[in-house]
Amino acid sequence: MSYPFQVRSMEQYEKAYKASVDEPEAFWASVAENFKWRKKWNKVLEWNFTEPKIEWFKGGKLNITENCIDRHLETLGDKPAFIWEPNSPDDRVRVVTYNRLHKRVCQFAQVLKNNGVKKGDRVCIYMGMIPELAYAVLGCARIGAIHSVIFGGFSAQSIADRLDDAKAEYIVTCDGAFRGGKDIPLKSVIDDALIGNKTVKRVIVYTRTRTPVSMIKGRDVWWEDEMEYAETQVEKDGIVSFSAEEMDAEDPLFILYTSGSTGKPKGVVHTCAGYMIWTTYTFVNVFQYKPGDIHFCTADIGWITGHSYIVYGPLSAGATSVMFEGIPTWPDAGRFWDIVDKHKVDILYTAPTAIRSLMGFGLEPLKGKDLSSLKILGTVGEPINEEAWHWYDENVGKKKCPIVDTWWQTETGGTLISNLAGVTPAIPSWASLPLPGVQPLLVDENGKEVLPTPSENGKLIASGNLCIKFPWPGILRTTWGDHERCRQNYFAAYPNLYFTGDGALKDEKGNYRITGRVDDVLNVSGHRIGTAEVENAINMHAGVVESAVVGYPHDIKGQGIYAYVVFGPKHGDEDLTRKDILQTVSRVIGPIAKPDKVQFVPGLPKTRSGKIMRRILRKIAEGEISNLGDTTTLLDPAVVEEIKKGKI
Ligand code: PRX
Repeated sequence: MSYPFQVRSMEQYEKAYKASVDEPEAFWASVAENFKWRKKWNKVLEWNFTEPKIEWFKGGKLNITENCIDRHLETLGDKPAFIWEPNSPDDRVRVVTYNRLHKRVCQFAQVLKNNGVKKGDRVCIYMGMIPELAYAVLGCARIGAIHSVIFGGFSAQSIADRLDDAKAEYIVTCDGAFRGGKDIPLKSVIDDALIGNKTVKRVIVYTRTRTPVSMIKGRDVWWEDEMEYAETQVEKDGIVSFSAEEMDAEDPLFILYTSGSTGKPKGVVHTCAGYMIWTTYTFVNVFQYKPGDIHFCTADIGWITGHSYIVYGPLSAGATSVMFEGIPTWPDAGRFWDIVDKHKVDILYTAPTAIRSLMGFGLEPLKGKDLSSLKILGTVGEPINEEAWHWYDENVGKKKCPIVDTWWQTETGGTLISNLAGVTPAIPSWASLPLPGVQPLLVDENGKEVLPTPSENGKLIASGNLCIKFPWPGILRTTWGDHERCRQNYFAAYPNLYFTGDGALKDEKGNYRITGRVDDVLNVSGHRIGTAEVENAINMHAGVVESAVVGYPHDIKGQGIYAYVVFGPKHGDEDLTRKDILQTVSRVIGPIAKPDKVQFVPGLPKTRSGKIMRRILRKIAEGEISNLGDTTTLLDPAVVEEIKKGKI
């Protein structure tokens, strides 16, 4: 497969960038021509950011799975789409060729059809990192059902909320999932999530861990039985076929829930054509993918990174990906390096939090591991500190692999700002330049553009809130069931701009450095968590009067969660109460949202109008106790002294 839209030099980057700004429709039409369409589009782009209304390639007809699978069969049929590395290094590796992927996806699409799933229906997928998860995702896309993958670390309550919001009628899950030394009972979590649920008609269960599960008659069916039957329907005389549903370019492809500054996660909606083109374009350009390269993205498919850079982007580009079931530190902290060595990985894409955690184990786990196959390294999910960047560069890339620092979001579908490996310059801890098609700018709180001015070290730097002024094909289209919420969240802060929620610096050459969220969203180990969500969960614990949650710098996680809790009369000792609170958060959201620190306080610092002064709480959590700024406007300044004394 060749990629005519791959930018291979700085000069080509500049040319592509200029064309994407001067003539966006012609630019994206020429990229779109490299995909498989059933019918060509009527109009490349129709948009306004006020409603917002964004339509790319409207009227075009396609099915994304024909682009990700069928179009490769003739030339790449026997090539691996996935090399699956199990949780335990002693288990068998599975290689899924494009032919095999085609067969399994057709079979699973048939399973969905047999179970009553139709175009537009919502299917919730709650599985571990196994090839069947990719079959489930792609099976949905093949029949035009909208998948909503939920990360395995979310609780029954979180799943129930998402099922309810999406009005999902179908679930695909596993008996359990292996993650390091743990066996997570997924089906049992689903059973809890379904107590009281009236919309779910069918649960399809794949056997991975052989954990005992309860199968409810009339509702639950085994994946294996269903697939066996479907095989007889889709395969005749050795030829496999399941005709893919014809989708409009703007039909929804999936919903992915993500946290915002309000208490309730939002269902970000991506559509078929724009998302496909954006993930493919960015995959091929950012990683400078060459046919035959082995790409290893360590994310989970439960998050957007896995959707875009394990499933859709790489498959559409006909790439080979390593899919890893386990975690970086089990059975030991050399697991990633073993995988790179074993599968001769060319491109390694991971999160700063994983790098920092592995750094903590020193160089011993790297000894004896042959990493010479590596050509390109990448990071995503949070700002990377310079120390981690250099460690990655020296010890993993041996100073010969460009590092791409890719900045993007669930809402953006794929990378917006990043250097292109070996093509545009890498600057430690800077995401650097926008991709062609991306028009960022920094604004102050009034929405006025901030331009670089001389800084302390004489360099020209601007600092502001990061916005984008023109749509790119992968931008979210709406939030499921509530378009107004989408407008409010992303398009209302500044007229005619998409607001990212991030703060950034910009230098005179147009490079961006992301400094972190400027809203009430935390980034813990690369996971997005809303402070309001955690507060709601804590407040559900009997005895909690109120709480306030803020982030604080954490050596490994990037940000840790600090909870200030006002508690009524306590039962038992403080330590136990603290554990009860953590347990409550675990139940309501999931273990990923458990606070790192819980401080019991007599009250929260509030203004006279009752607003919590988070700025003060943030400073205390960060350890900046002596410099809290003006506290005289507080209703009860004495409470701040009490909080300072009790800091953990
Ligand atoms: O704050 C930014 C941070 O992660 C947020 C998006 O989180 P999520 O939607 O979960 O997607 C993560 C994977 C794309 C952003 O608003 N972020 C992501 N990548 C970077 C980053 N911060 C700094 N540098 C990055 N490379």
